[in-house]
Amino acid sequence: MYFADIHCHMLYGVDDGARTKEDMIAMFEKSYADNVRTVCVTPHFHPGYFGDNTEKTDKAYAELQAYVAEHHPDVKLFRGNELYFKKGARVWIEDGHCKTLGGTNYVLVDFREGENAENVTDGVYRLLNAGYKPVLAHLERYDIYKRGMSVAASLKMDGVLLQADSGSFLGDFGFWPKRRAKQLLKAGLLDIVSSDAHGVTHRCTNMTETFDLVEKLAGRNVAEDLFANNAKRILGIDLED
Ligand SMILES: [Fe+2]
Repeated sequence: MYFADIHCHMLYGVDDGARTKEDMIAMFEKSYADNVRTVCVTPHFHPGYFGDNTEKTDKAYAELQAYVAEHHPDVKLFRGNELYFKKGARVWIEDGHCKTLGGTNYVLVDFREGENAENVTDGVYRLLNAGYKPVLAHLERYDIYKRGMSVAASLKMDGVLLQADSGSFLGDFGFWPKRRAKQLLKAGLLDIVSSDAHGVTHRCTNMTETFDLVEKLAGRNVAEDLFANNAKRILGIDLED
């Protein structure tokens, strides 16, 4: 079973993920060893915090592309961003600074963990109304989840895709995100599980371990959709690839 990971911080020197080129290569190799064969790198797009990292991102991505072409041509590599939402963020997408997932109209979007439900809903609706398809990053880690699964259900009903971090299932973010991730899974509300990997010594790629857990909880077909097929559908690639 090969996985598709559409949320990871592998590009070096651009956010709080890989710091050096060596880190980036080590992260890629760990991901490869973890059976990931489709990768969409998603550095944070949060100019207020990480500055304008576009040039550094271009450079790191070109270096990763060259490495993959030489050493692992069986891997499909794509580029996106994890957009930290604020009003006006749409302009960043439209001017090409913030990348959609693999050039599609899907946008991986992130909010402050303590953001209230109204602002999260308003943010994703702004993207929907502009013609984008929001992929909401790790809802299980947000405080709004305290209001229960009704928030998740209503977002999903309106066309938002829900992505959970693999580490949440393993308890990397504590008791509540783990419990919420399992609740979302059992309620059939999740669309995608991604690594959200940031390094090789902490917040690592751990897709195989989590896949095995999710398969036990929800069955093989659901696990295959969450860890590969739905991400491939987003990127427009053949499920058999
Ligand atoms: Fe992330």
